[in-house]
Amino acid sequence: MRMYDLITKKKHGGELSDAEITAMIGGYVNGEIPDYQMAAMLMAIWFRGMTDHEIIEMTKVMAHSGDMIDLSAIPGKKVDKHSTGGVGDKTTLIVAPIVAACGGKVAKMSGRGLGHTGGTIDKLESIPGYRTVLSREEFFDTVNRCGVSVIGQSGNLAPADKKLYALRDVTATVDCIPLIASSIMSKKLASGADCIVLDVKTGSGAFMKTLDDSIKLAQTMVAIGEGAGRRTVALITDMDTPLGYGIGNSIEVIESTEVLKGRGPADLREVSLQLAANMLYLIGKGMPEQCRKAAETAIEDGSAFDTFCQMVRAQGGDDNVLRDTSTFAEAPYHIDVKADADGFVTKMNAEAIGETSVVLGAGRETKDSPIDLTAGLILHKKYGDAVKTGDSLATLYTSKRDVLADAEKLYRQAVVIGAEKPAPEPLIYARVEKDRVERY
Ligand code: URA
Repeated sequence: MRMYDLITKKKHGGELSDAEITAMIGGYVNGEIPDYQMAAMLMAIWFRGMTDHEIIEMTKVMAHSGDMIDLSAIPGKKVDKHSTGGVGDKTTLIVAPIVAACGGKVAKMSGRGLGHTGGTIDKLESIPGYRTVLSREEFFDTVNRCGVSVIGQSGNLAPADKKLYALRDVTATVDCIPLIASSIMSKKLASGADCIVLDVKTGSGAFMKTLDDSIKLAQTMVAIGEGAGRRTVALITDMDTPLGYGIGNSIEVIESTEVLKGRGPADLREVSLQLAANMLYLIGKGMPEQCRKAAETAIEDGSAFDTFCQMVRAQGGDDNVLRDTSTFAEAPYHIDVKADADGFVTKMNAEAIGETSVVLGAGRETKDSPIDLTAGLILHKKYGDAVKTGDSLATLYTSKRDVLADAEKLYRQAVVIGAEKPAPEPLIYARVEKDRVERY
């Protein structure tokens, strides 16, 4: 089988056979197929798409390119959650302990920040002492004792995706439904959970900018999960506006603990409760409304926060900083971005706000660049809020004084102030189950 022929077939819109997909992914992972040929194939897929059968097959082959984690040493149903990536999206830190406090088992492998979007592992590493690398035994033991453990992805989890993602990143082929769906779902299938809840972001800060594309991506991922025997549900949630008010690593941990303590921003609390309720529903803890009630109770009675502290301690972290978040290390420099007009916030470009956090040091400019765990933003005005000239729109934090001017400029461009109060936008647009789309 020649890669040249497979590229030609896809270029003309043909369907790759199972054997061709296996040979293509296998050949790429073992180095027989060079980057330039795979890059041509990715672009052909970008233009021509893939059938559902091709996507499912490619996902399975990618999942099996490395370790398939066997979670059977953890009794009970295991449930995972994945976000397609957003700005200020710290829901894993809230949802995982809520679900564990309600009796679920969450053995979760998370990623680092990608482009303008943050990553759970970077956030957790802002907690002094927290270990994101555990042996398999320590990982299972933590889930068995606390109901939850969040660690970094093992080096050999879906290596085909690792290699393909790096190539997509530099060939303008990230924003492609078959490629995103197979990338995310290969890692989810390899991670071993029985049930999966997907948070598919839609809007300016998401990879999918339109609701129709987000629903299509969700349907594709749900079909892959269900096809592989994993109960899978997706929520389509807003990413036109960042979630919550904090963006940056320790800043997001602090905001998450606020929600776990029964406070925190309403939008973040609502998305977290909906995700947690769907996770509990999938593992058979009741109907969605009952599960939502249980999730609310876990916040109100403090059990979700206690579970978070327990997990942090079990992984070597100092949970005192979670109890008194004023003891987190603080960035040495900060400035306020002041409004230069009266009116309302009529638009926020979430992607540009994510880029502002990268400029401040909260994300990586390149794969290996260091990260400033204290850097980021606290927003004071969000979409729909009234502003007066001189009000602070946001406070920017960093350890590098010389980036503040660029960051401020970028943030100003990301926020539009207009005369009219804009219509409110939904927070949750739709729920996608097997063969069913519920629009809200
Ligand atoms: N997250 C992933 O893991 N893969 C993608 O392709 C996009 C977001």
